[in-house]
Amino acid sequence: MDRYLVFGHPVRHSKSPFIHTLFARQTQQELEYGLAEPAVDEFAHALRTFFDQGGKGCNVTVPFKEQAFTLVDRLSTRAKRAGAVNTIKLTDDGVLLGDNTDGAGLVADLKSHGVTLADSRILLLGAGGAARGALAPLLAELPSELVIANRTHTKAQQLAAEFHDLGPVTAQAYEQLAGPFDLVINSTSASLQGELPPLTPALIHTDIAIYDMMYGASDTAFISWAKQHGARQTMDGLGMLVEQAAEAFTVWRGIRPGTKQVLRELKRNLGVI
Ligand code: ATR
Repeated sequence: MDRYLVFGHPVRHSKSPFIHTLFARQTQQELEYGLAEPAVDEFAHALRTFFDQGGKGCNVTVPFKEQAFTLVDRLSTRAKRAGAVNTIKLTDDGVLLGDNTDGAGLVADLKSHGVTLADSRILLLGAGGAARGALAPLLAELPSELVIANRTHTKAQQLAAEFHDLGPVTAQAYEQLAGPFDLVINSTSASLQGELPPLTPALIHTDIAIYDMMYGASDTAFISWAKQHGARQTMDGLGMLVEQAAEAFTVWRGIRPGTKQVLRELKRNLGVI
């Protein structure tokens, strides 16, 4: 049976096996999908061993995405832009192809929630790996403006300069942000510590869409804060997780699974509904 897995550390709580097993059942593909948690300095060896032993493809998550970028034979355009690899496929001619489906997953999830990206003003919070992965797919949707704000402002400036050729992207310091924005995407890891990015509540209005790439069984700190200040449309990163997985599955198997039912089952599994 064709073997796939996700590399990460820690990875025990990953939802990827659950999601891909449901995709496989739905599309009647014969495959198994597992977990691998190599020591941080053992990833390169573990990856090589997996493919030497017949593995067909893998996902890569924290903290290995940047290292995976350096280990594959060939990179997709979107992986090159993201500077990180979250999906690897062994092609029929034995090439390890590195791809990145995170940004496509974000855009697909935003669209499935009915969010309009064309001609919109987008505020992206954070300038780390998650922000970098989102930029090219967001700019491809032709927003009128994409502003990056980051705690360390120089990182936002660097990122904006790097993606400037793809669209109207600029960096603004948190304290200088000028709205109104149609969509705010939180790519920071602040919610992990229950913290909030230093955003003024004045930017939140009833028609704004709020997206937090993080998720949990209850609202993230950022989503709670936005609701408290009047945001009516809030979304967490669970849908992005399922959509990036669907994109990876499509890369591997050439068949696109449906995501709605899988997302519902995942929510039930997490105790969200
Ligand atoms: P990831 O790969 O998830 O993007 P990362 O590369 O470590 O992780 O980036 C984390 C991002 O969250 C950074 O933009 C970080 O801001 P700094 O560049 O200033 O470090 C941001 N971040 C983390 N905690 C934050 C907090 N409490 N408030 C605001 N931004 C925060």
